Amino acid sequence: MKSAMTKIVAAISYIFLIFIPSVVLGDLRTDILRNAAKEFIYNTVPFETRTDVKKVKLGEKLFNDKNLSLNGDIACASCHIDKFGSADGLPNSIGVGGKGVGVERIKSGGVIVPRNSLPLWGRAEEDFKVFFWDGKVEKREDTLISQFGRQSPSTNPLIVAIHLPFVELREMIIDTDVVNTTLKSETVESASKIYYTLLERINNNQNYRSAFIDAYNIKPSELEFIHIADSNAQFIQDKFRIRASKFENFVTRKSNLSSSEIQGGLIFFGKGKCVSCHNGKHYSDFEFHAIPFPQIGFGKNGFGVDYGRFNVTHDPKDLYKFRTPPLTNVENTAPYGHSGSAQTLKEAIIYHIDPLRLLKTQQMSAIERNEYYRKLLASNNILLKTSFLDDNEIHQLVQFLKTLSFD
Ligand code: HEC
Ligand code: HEC
Repeated sequence: MKSAMTKIVAAISYIFLIFIPSVVLGDLRTDILRNAAKEFIYNTVPFETRTDVKKVKLGEKLFNDKNLSLNGDIACASCHIDKFGSADGLPNSIGVGGKGVGVERIKSGGVIVPRNSLPLWGRAEEDFKVFFWDGKVEKREDTLISQFGRQSPSTNPLIVAIHLPFVELREMIIDTDVVNTTLKSETVESASKIYYTLLERINNNQNYRSAFIDAYNIKPSELEFIHIADSNAQFIQDKFRIRASKFENFVTRKSNLSSSEIQGGLIFFGKGKCVSCHNGKHYSDFEFHAIPFPQIGFGKNGFGVDYGRFNVTHDPKDLYKFRTPPLTNVENTAPYGHSGSAQTLKEAIIYHIDPLRLLKTQQMSAIERNEYYRKLLASNNILLKTSFLDDNEIHQLVQFLKTLSFD
């Protein structure tokens, strides 16, 4: 009897010895993670959604309407698809001539757009100011910078960004004879001609026309392309607004995370230094950095080459730099990187810290390797600063990244 009792007492004290400290430690870890999130991520006032139902509905129709591309065969919704977290599930997008969704588009013979499609979450929020992988539309200290120069159609960077797909060669337009004569010079005037043609299509469609006049409370003669872009922006603001993620609900004490998710979070804010670039509510500093993601497929600057931010600034310091991508819902937006060269989140993380592990250097041509050395040199900042992460830590980071999806 005595010995049984001793055993029980011994067992209880053993449990206490093991568990009490780990519970306390567990609390400490959750507190550290919550505080880090408040300091580096949720450090701004939440954005209020102010959308107009009529404009949102119009924007939604246009988002899905192929007739709004010059050739009439592609819509925004062809490359920004719910199933792929509002991206398109492909490494490089397939533009004009493409059919179907996801990999079907690759087989359909459409033209390649040399960048990975970007998701649209939170793009209408006031603090989202830099658009596209190379930041070709950005608002810095209230100045809007884009290829429109002084003739910018709006001071709202999303509305300006929405103007671009319509006139971006390969994306929603192809270099046929018609386009060659109008768009060849790539000037604002030639883009205006395309906008005018699309506006005429709206004007010729009585349903659209009266819906716009009603929603914007304008005279028929006042209908302009800006109303089309604005309604699109209203739709994006409404549909792709930021909702609470699993992680945010953890930070506000509405739910818990598993111990591996918490450990991954601590690496994100600590050892992995991820938060030094992926910070703020959108998990982006909206700056440009070179990270050694390999280039796959066409590049903006020739096959296998994309100089990134350099294409906008022409400053050699910006070679191979891309805007830090936001990480909202990142679990659903594979593949990753500006050319979609990482298939999984695990690969995306490895490209930041140990790219040679994934690179099949024997299968690369000498020219491709040479190009990659340049990218590696440009990426020395990140490669020298980040700590080594083992496979278990990378796994925990992946678990954490998945908590950034809406709950
Ligand atoms: C052919 C596929 C395709 C079509 C069609 C398309 N997009 Fe995109 N979208 C992309 C790609 C690829 C990118 C990234 C391009 C880049 O950064 O160089 C992108 C980027 C964007 C961005 C910038 C997001 C960010 O994070 O900066 C917005 C906004 C956007 N698209 C809206 C639209 C709208 C609105 C339409 C319809 C008018 C549209 N797109 C049509 C493929 C497409
Ligand atoms: C020096 C700034 C910087 C640091 C530090 C950093 N990243 Fe990134 N991250 C970027 C940039 C820039 C890209 C896009 C690079 C490209 O496309 O060529 C990127 C891409 C990604 C992507 C792909 C997202 C997408 O939508 O394509 C993920 C996931 C990611 N980073 C997670 C992490 C994690 C996890 C860490 C910490 C281990 C980290 N990053 C550290 C700047 C950074």
